Amino acid sequence: SVSVTEGDSVTLKTNVTEIREGDDVLWKFGAGKSQIAKMKKKKQIFSTYNDTDGRFRDRLRLDDQTGSLIITNITTQHAGVYQLEISGEKLSSKTFNVSVYARLPVPVISSNSSHCSSSSSSSSSQQNCSLVCSVVNVGHVTLSWYKGNSLLSSISVSDLSISLSLPLEVEYQDKNSYSCVLNNPISNQTQHLDISKLCHTCSGTAALRLTLIRSLSYTVLLFDSVC
Ligand SMILES: *[C@@H]1O[C@H](CO)[C@@H](O)[C@H](O)[C@H]1NC(C)=O
Ligand SMILES: *[C@@H]1O[C@H](CO)[C@@H](O)[C@H](O)[C@H]1NC(C)=O
Ligand SMILES: *[C@@H]1O[C@H](CO)[C@@H](O)[C@H](O)[C@H]1NC(C)=O
Ligand SMILES: *[C@@H]1O[C@H](CO)[C@@H](O)[C@H](O)[C@H]1NC(C)=O
Ligand SMILES: *[C@@H]1O[C@H](CO)[C@@H](O)[C@H](O)[C@H]1NC(C)=O
Repeated sequence: SVSVTEGDSVTLKTNVTEIREGDDVLWKFGAGKSQIAKMKKKKQIFSTYNDTDGRFRDRLRLDDQTGSLIITNITTQHAGVYQLEISGEKLSSKTFNVSVYARLPVPVISSNSSHCSSSSSSSSSQQNCSLVCSVVNVGHVTLSWYKGNSLLSSISVSDLSISLSLPLEVEYQDKNSYSCVLNNPISNQTQHLDISKLCHTCSGTAALRLTLIRSLSYTVLLFDSVC
């Protein structure tokens, strides 16, 4: 099994230090076992195929010493089973199951201001800052909140490509370090929470900021439509 991140390159290794003169190397892909690369060392033939659906176009290279297959700028279309056959005096074969994972975005932490404005000024929830960590267009991932190294909460999504968000309540005076982590089986992205920056008390300043941002975006919108 081989796991790769989208956009990266991967080398499927034959584990042969040098292909012998009389040996032929053949690489096949998928259930249909379509030929994608071939090497006949004796005749000096090294070819990669632009297979019928073109998904491997300009993405394949062969190592002329070892016969290893190099796939560049891999995408999810290139996930699947690859089969290697080396024929000559002996016949040997090997299969590779390649999984391709999306490149993860850095999660975004924002304050849930709707929650903030709904709380009454004297209640105990006024001591808390309501936050949300979110990501868009992800699949096969887990989004989690950590306090230091301990997991507080998490949410997972399987195949679908969707948006995820996970809430967190912290006290304004909290001095712990919090982070929001997005991960898939092979990589992760972390966003650290800056309480002093995101957590303002639910007072006039928050309302004023909102108004300012609103009027700014209206100006931009107006400007855009004039152009
Ligand atoms: C990688 O592949 C994607 C999708 O086919 C393409 O949009 C992108 O331009 C390629 N990048 C490079 C560096 O070739
Ligand atoms: C390849 O690996 C994936 C993920 O580990 C697995 O779901 C799939 O069944 C494997 N396919 C084969 C043909 O082994
Ligand atoms: C924001 O807070 C409100 C009230 O608690 C809640 O209903 C809503 O789901 C929160 N939003 C997010 C994105 O978590
Ligand atoms: C404030 O946050 C703390 C810690 O996250 C939580 O235990 C408590 O229930 C929250 N209080 C309110 C009123 O939401
Ligand atoms: C994130 O990935 C790094 C290595 O890339 C690893 O050391 C770390 O434990 C991972 N963190 C989480 C929370 O999965």
